Amino acid sequence: MTIQGLIDRLGGLAFGGDYNPEQWDEPVWQEDDELMRRAKVNLATVGVFSWALLEPEEGCYDFAWLDAHLDRLHANGVAVDLATPTASPPPWFTLVHPDALPVTADGTTLVHGSRDTYCLAAPAYRSAASRIAAALAQRYGDHPAVALWHVHNEYATLCWCEHTAVAFRRWLRARHGSLDALNDAWGTAFWSQHYTGWAQVLPPRATQWHKNPGQALDFRRFWSDEVLAAFREQRDVIRDHSDRPVTTNLMVPGYQNLDLWAIAREVDLVAIDHYPDAPGPGAAADTAFGADRARSFARGRPWLLMEQGTNTVYAGDRTLGKEPGEILRHSLGHIARGSEGALFFQWRQSRAGAEQWHSAMVPHAGPDSRIFREVTALGEVVAGLGELAGSTVAARVAVLHDPDAWWALDGDGLPSPDHGYHAILRRAHRTLWEAGVTADFAHPEDDLSRYPLVLAPALFLIPDAGAVNLRRYVADGGTLLVQHFSGVVDERLHARLGGYPAAPLREALGIRVEEHRPLRRSERITLSDGSHATAWSESVRAEGAETLAAYTGGMLEDSPALTRHRFGAGRGWYLSTTLEDPDYAALIARLLAETGVDPERPELPSGVEAVTRHAPDGRRWLFLLNHGTEAVPVPEPAHDLLTGGRVDELAPGGCAVLRLPEAA
Ligand code: GAL
Repeated sequence: MTIQGLIDRLGGLAFGGDYNPEQWDEPVWQEDDELMRRAKVNLATVGVFSWALLEPEEGCYDFAWLDAHLDRLHANGVAVDLATPTASPPPWFTLVHPDALPVTADGTTLVHGSRDTYCLAAPAYRSAASRIAAALAQRYGDHPAVALWHVHNEYATLCWCEHTAVAFRRWLRARHGSLDALNDAWGTAFWSQHYTGWAQVLPPRATQWHKNPGQALDFRRFWSDEVLAAFREQRDVIRDHSDRPVTTNLMVPGYQNLDLWAIAREVDLVAIDHYPDAPGPGAAADTAFGADRARSFARGRPWLLMEQGTNTVYAGDRTLGKEPGEILRHSLGHIARGSEGALFFQWRQSRAGAEQWHSAMVPHAGPDSRIFREVTALGEVVAGLGELAGSTVAARVAVLHDPDAWWALDGDGLPSPDHGYHAILRRAHRTLWEAGVTADFAHPEDDLSRYPLVLAPALFLIPDAGAVNLRRYVADGGTLLVQHFSGVVDERLHARLGGYPAAPLREALGIRVEEHRPLRRSERITLSDGSHATAWSESVRAEGAETLAAYTGGMLEDSPALTRHRFGAGRGWYLSTTLEDPDYAALIARLLAETGVDPERPELPSGVEAVTRHAPDGRRWLFLLNHGTEAVPVPEPAHDLLTGGRVDELAPGGCAVLRLPEAA
């Protein structure tokens, strides 16, 4: 079944969540049926953690209970997203395959008692996972309830065991070809790390001081490829028995043991889980960040919010509850940016077990609760948005994201601890979000020509091909902002010699960086244009670029901090320090103005999110989400799908989905 098949099957957008009926009994199942109808649930993810029940001992399956639940859900009009349970091997697995347990970098073997206690590279785990996936696919491949396959759950856990070492060496041989090439790539001439036999090469386990950065980066790449291989094995056995689409739920934004561009190419449907990590406007910005990433990884294909919490905001050491109305706003925040629905973890809050305090659609308090009332109201809303299915969102600004650059910046021995890749990327995205501009993420080697403006906030590592691509993008008329400490190493983490960044970028930017000069903690500097910066500075020489702001004082007095270079038909901007928020926002506003990228709805105040979904046939819908505390007039009064009427004003916290006149 194609994704269009799934959309047709659901009759619109998806609404529902993880459903774990094995935690309950008959009377509760009956109530579930009634409550799911009431909440207009049309998709339930079943079986994610059911391995122990499905295969109580190795090779012996018990499907009777699952048969009954799938039949019941089907009879109740709920389609099933059927999971393979391979993220949580049962306790017997530990005893039968002790060699397949995960080992941490410091040598501790982890055993069952939680979840994810397996080594993805262990042959016994891989064949056990493929066997249970095949058994499920054989039995349920044509089951009328099954609309989607959900392989595993949030592939991410790492392992440093002997199986991993063997697989890592195999991968390294394929990548580097010879030990000489590996020695060269990893710079093993330093610290007596030279390898004279493959058996000496290990995963980057706990060691005395800084790890070899090349080894650490290759390990991340290897692991990501290992995940892809494990996913493909399950996907392919499922495809042998079923024509329904296959997905896996990816953890965005912050979790990154996986090249999300690569896995997105392997799935039939990109699906993400998203749990905001800050309350209030932070949660809304984080939602937009996660959703824009998902849409970008999906490359314009439909994608789906597979999990979120009804009342869960992870805020450091505690989970905060959402404010009334946020269940709707966060869900619409995802749908606005292209999600084909809104699903949750989980349907009914567990009475016992490790996640008994995690929020759910039906809380411990039962259906007579604020949460269930908001869930039911949301179900009604999602059911009314069916006409949007298959439409997407077009952005005119791209933020470059490269997992290699992320992993490389996670390494040891960098000049300062202020290079949090994720934080830098989020800041760039949030600044655009606050300016009312929707952004895509793009890979540095993508065709970027459709974007008038591209931001490269944290491109520490860039291969030659990426640097050449960015130079071409500028030469052909694009505007590129490159930020400090970018383009300074190649794909082997070797420093660019002769001045940073990589030569093609130096040409496009018209500058040459001679020295990195991290600032002291809490040091604040003032640039010649009055703006303020922290954390980092560089000794930059203009080689053709005009200086828009210079450093003041100290040895960098008068040297360029912010530059702009006319190159071919475009402009290359370089920012060599970390501007404070208001000054960074002013810079982004200037770039947007120079490139003619307007906010989606310039008349709306900051805090009111506006995003348009477009269908290929010209139909358009404007999402308005008022995260602020003031009522605002609706910029283009039109039919609102949420109220079924015309709205002129958005109350504080209010939302609207306006059917706009069709685009010509
Ligand atoms: C997700 C995970 C779910 C559940 C949820 C809430 O990341 O996929 O299984 O654990 O978080 O914590």
